[in-house]
Amino acid sequence: MDSIPSFAAHEPSSEQLSRIAAQLLSEAALSPHGAVPAPLPAAPGAEAVLPATTAASAGSTGSLPVTPAAAFTHHVALPAQPFTPSIQPFAAATATPLRTASAPLEDFSGLRSFVARIRGSDAFARQSPPFDAPTTSAAAGFGVFDVDAVRRDFPVLHQRVHDKPLAWFDNAATTQKPQHVIDTISRFYAHDNSNIHRGAHTLAARATDAYEHARRTVQTFLGASSPDEIIFVRGTTEGINLVAQSCGSLLSAGDEIVLTELEHHANIVPWQMVAKRTGAVIRVAPIDDRGEVMLDAYAALLGPRTKFVSLSHASNSLGTILPVELMTGMAKARGARVLVDGAQSVSHFPVDVRRIGCDFFVFSGHKIFGPTGIGAVYATSEAQGSMPPWQGGGNMIRDVTFEKTTYADPPAKFEAGTPNVADAIGLGAALDYVMRLGRERIAAYEHDLLEYATRRLTAIDGLRLIGTAAEKVGVVSFVLPGRDVIEIGKALDREGFAVRAGHHCAQPSLRHFGLEATVRPSLAFYNTRDEIDRLAAAVDRIARG
Ligand SMILES: Cc1ncc(COP(=O)(O)O)c(C=O)c1O
Repeated sequence: MDSIPSFAAHEPSSEQLSRIAAQLLSEAALSPHGAVPAPLPAAPGAEAVLPATTAASAGSTGSLPVTPAAAFTHHVALPAQPFTPSIQPFAAATATPLRTASAPLEDFSGLRSFVARIRGSDAFARQSPPFDAPTTSAAAGFGVFDVDAVRRDFPVLHQRVHDKPLAWFDNAATTQKPQHVIDTISRFYAHDNSNIHRGAHTLAARATDAYEHARRTVQTFLGASSPDEIIFVRGTTEGINLVAQSCGSLLSAGDEIVLTELEHHANIVPWQMVAKRTGAVIRVAPIDDRGEVMLDAYAALLGPRTKFVSLSHASNSLGTILPVELMTGMAKARGARVLVDGAQSVSHFPVDVRRIGCDFFVFSGHKIFGPTGIGAVYATSEAQGSMPPWQGGGNMIRDVTFEKTTYADPPAKFEAGTPNVADAIGLGAALDYVMRLGRERIAAYEHDLLEYATRRLTAIDGLRLIGTAAEKVGVVSFVLPGRDVIEIGKALDREGFAVRAGHHCAQPSLRHFGLEATVRPSLAFYNTRDEIDRLAAAVDRIARG
């Protein structure tokens, strides 16, 4: 392969678009939820970081008397140290889609504006990046992104492995942590550690305030309308299980859950468990040979029995970015609830949950430069209204007798037991770091890097790139003819490269290509062209045997 393939031939045909449109239109007229949902409210300011001056709305959910929320204002603990990022805030960046070369700009514009009409919302028609934003040249973004300064924030990157400089290309599995996150967590344990929501003393107040501040940071980061729509969980997997178990209890035999062929096992298995328990049926939207969801097939799957649609924002095995605004609009027109798995999107480009229009959005802290063991579920207040709690215990109750328990309001209702306080605060610090860097600027830089990596790797004789969607995050899955994937991974490790080799917990997506495993370098904003040059040279040597 010597160049990036042209993708123009794969735009949906006008016939496909009009078929989907006709289907949506007839269903919208029948939808019990109405053909024209209320207009979406405007999204809040994109990259503003909330000041740590207001107290938590700590609920009275613990077993001890709770300090009134107002008292916490005197004890605000974090951010205790002023945070000075290596990179100064960049105001004028323009959102840049992550698309590979030759991709059409407005792939689904006709269908999108149709869906906008039936939703009756201008905001929906405007769309968030990466689909409608004007493209800048990647070089413009590249020029203002000082990757050397960024790398200085990440201590782990500066080491040698097998006496070679470490090149961390396993970012889809987990990301490295900036010093700001490490310091925030260690400062919490050194100064403020306490259980939260349930003590009248100073450290409890500080810890509660810092925890609730982190919740507001997640709210800002996702564009949610209230901090009460943010539930802390262990990560994406637990978040999907929460939604599946809670909403799954409302399903009946014959109800349908729609997934896509791209899903991570974390977005398959919890739904299979629900289906087994309730008699609901799982239906799967197929992908094409580029790794894009076939939208006409997806539209055809949506029907009156569709109660839930759960889909990735970006695929961890192929890198495909799904048109989630469009797919959500199509599902909502049928009255279905929609969950978007943002594990692979949030670290790469701006996300605005209200523009997507989903009921649920889930992500993991460790994939966005934050700690392991923490993540968040965005659940609209409206969706929460019908959801039973999924775990019982302390913190999630208002009153308990042996006869009866009344539950606390969300989000406490869905956070049973002592939460992962320190790592929630660490997650807030990570999101703060990303927002200060500027998500548009990150997207522009990574776009350049992805194009470069695609060009360099596909130039290697015999290398087969798996996943050639027009819209991709920085995942470059490949195989080499006659070479064992695991052996390639080990050989690269000996050269200092950390890449994932295996099935990436997304077996159905790889089996579409007749494969059980790939080698998967995956990019983040601290990777460089120089690292990619070295990786391509190493893969070339392995390919030549
Ligand atoms: C798309 C996607 N969904 C879900 C998950 C599960 O995330 P976690 O293991 O952090 O819960 C991953 C992890 O790789 C992922 O890539």
